Amino acid sequence: MCGIIGISSNKPVLTDIINSLKKLEYRGYDSAGIATLSDGEINEIKSEGRVDNLEQNFDLKNLKGNIGIGHVRWATHGIPNRINAHPHSSHNVSVVHNGIIENSTILKKTLISKGYKFKSQTDTEVIVHLISENLKTAELEEAVTKTLKQLHGSFALGIVFKDIPDLIVGARRGSPLAVGYGPNENYLGSDSYALKSMTNKITYLDDSEFCIVKKDEVNFFNEEGKKINKKILELSSDEESYQKGDFKHFMAKEIEEQPTTVKTGIKEYLDNVNNDVNLFNFPWKIDEIKSIKLIGCGTAYHSCLIAKYWFEELTSLDVNIDIASEFRYRNNRFKNDSLYIFVSQSGETADTYAALDLCNKNKMKTCSVVNVIESSIARNSNYVLPIHCGPEIGVASTKAFLGQILVLYILALKLGFLKNELEKIKYQEKIKDLKNLPNLIEKTLLLDSHIQSISSTFNEAKGSMFLGRGSSYPIALEGALKLKELSYIHAEGYPAGEMKHGPLALIEEGMPVVVLAPRDNYYKKTISNMQEVIARGAKVLLITNKSDDEVVSENIWETIEVESTNKDLLPFLLTIPLQKLAYYSALKKGYDIDKPRNLAKSVTVE
Ligand code: AGP
Ligand code: GLU
Repeated sequence: MCGIIGISSNKPVLTDIINSLKKLEYRGYDSAGIATLSDGEINEIKSEGRVDNLEQNFDLKNLKGNIGIGHVRWATHGIPNRINAHPHSSHNVSVVHNGIIENSTILKKTLISKGYKFKSQTDTEVIVHLISENLKTAELEEAVTKTLKQLHGSFALGIVFKDIPDLIVGARRGSPLAVGYGPNENYLGSDSYALKSMTNKITYLDDSEFCIVKKDEVNFFNEEGKKINKKILELSSDEESYQKGDFKHFMAKEIEEQPTTVKTGIKEYLDNVNNDVNLFNFPWKIDEIKSIKLIGCGTAYHSCLIAKYWFEELTSLDVNIDIASEFRYRNNRFKNDSLYIFVSQSGETADTYAALDLCNKNKMKTCSVVNVIESSIARNSNYVLPIHCGPEIGVASTKAFLGQILVLYILALKLGFLKNELEKIKYQEKIKDLKNLPNLIEKTLLLDSHIQSISSTFNEAKGSMFLGRGSSYPIALEGALKLKELSYIHAEGYPAGEMKHGPLALIEEGMPVVVLAPRDNYYKKTISNMQEVIARGAKVLLITNKSDDEVVSENIWETIEVESTNKDLLPFLLTIPLQKLAYYSALKKGYDIDKPRNLAKSVTVE
């Protein structure tokens, strides 16, 4: 994680650095810092906590300079305090870093033996001294090349030098980094979002490349230090989607945007005239695909889990799912007739990217389902299925989850049809049902006040459980994840049928338990499991869909009914009350909803 910004200009850079850091805060927010160069000196300021603290703690008028770097941190090495905040500077070099230097302990020992002194507990500080050491015997490009070769692990770096005061060095291995081009100034940034208010002209560094950014020119180099040419991309401007509008939080806005997310996905992928799914430029013949592997982290992993139910239902493909951080280190059996699908909102998640990289190196067929189409995961996949939900700023993933499962469902439909495993008539019926989904989501969003009133019970409890069977099981996991990450309440998601194998022991008088029991093939079984928890004192919130036959149970605490539709689509609707439950519970507790403690939006460290 962490956010990096660098600006080289012909005018003072402080205000733009501060504004960019505020935008980057979604990547990390435990501390922040800036270094500028002026009057032959490095001026460094840093603070624990948010960027606002920098403004409060320092008289920023004094921080002059037309060149500077800034950082918001998500600590990996060393507690989040002022000393460990970036930039890390010596008298002649200042560095901001995103990633982990895996051999920092050994490098530190060598540097200490050469007389270098360390101030922080971070892995980053070795870079400061290593580059100073290498500059003693080499020119800039050569010293950078040498330094990068000595570093193991992942990094995006921004470096400024007291004695070469007209440039910033940027470097990338694993963690994302982009260069932006402006009038009489150029930029370095962790992502295009940070740079968008200044430019829409961007170049992404690829792994092992570095760049030298001056106010009027940018040069790129490969890992051997040889100059290379890179393309400049023009990004579309969607500045409005980065504003909260009338909403209190980005998360609230993003939950309400979900009908639009689904509408856009439908517009992109459904052919209305022929009632068909369009997968433009799908690069493989259908017979080349015999199995599917879906890989992601966190909420994106839950999307994979739901998709497994759909692929198994609609196709005869063998489907496996994996958590990216597990997949990347296992002894995998790669299969040529398998399609490897990587699911990620940001497209920058380090573990998911590493899993993709592993598959690419083994020459597998790779496809990504991503939101950020300029991201590393999108750029390095053979085929990309964008989810088109616009920027998601809240750390808790909401609309991206619905966007991901929509695209995966559409893919499952198409593959089932192409493989002649889903009859045309059923295929087209399902497409028709899909077109009504935005309307059903809109209705589900209206359940708002009921959910708000229920949320305080969860806040008062020691813990809670979320149960479901079939495709409602991943939704139970997602509901529990949302509640823990936003309200810091212990919440466990479980397959309802597993309760009797151990977790039932957790149930005690008054414990809130969410039971997801839509009227699908599992309904009766789930209702029986619900009775088992009620019998042991649980306070059950039943979430089901509207139906003529009433649920037979007198002891349900609360019931929420979503609209009825084709059972494949129920996971979309069941998700919404759970997102709102987590939101309102955190709101009542007064927590920082868009930036929950200890987390960051884009997890670019492993
Ligand atoms: C979701 O609410 C999370 N904050 C988190 O689990 C997230 O989904 C995960 O880090 C994966 O991110 P990605 O989709 O950007 O790869
Ligand atoms: N490892 C560095 C630190 O802890 C950077 C952390 C990061 O990129 O998240 O300061």
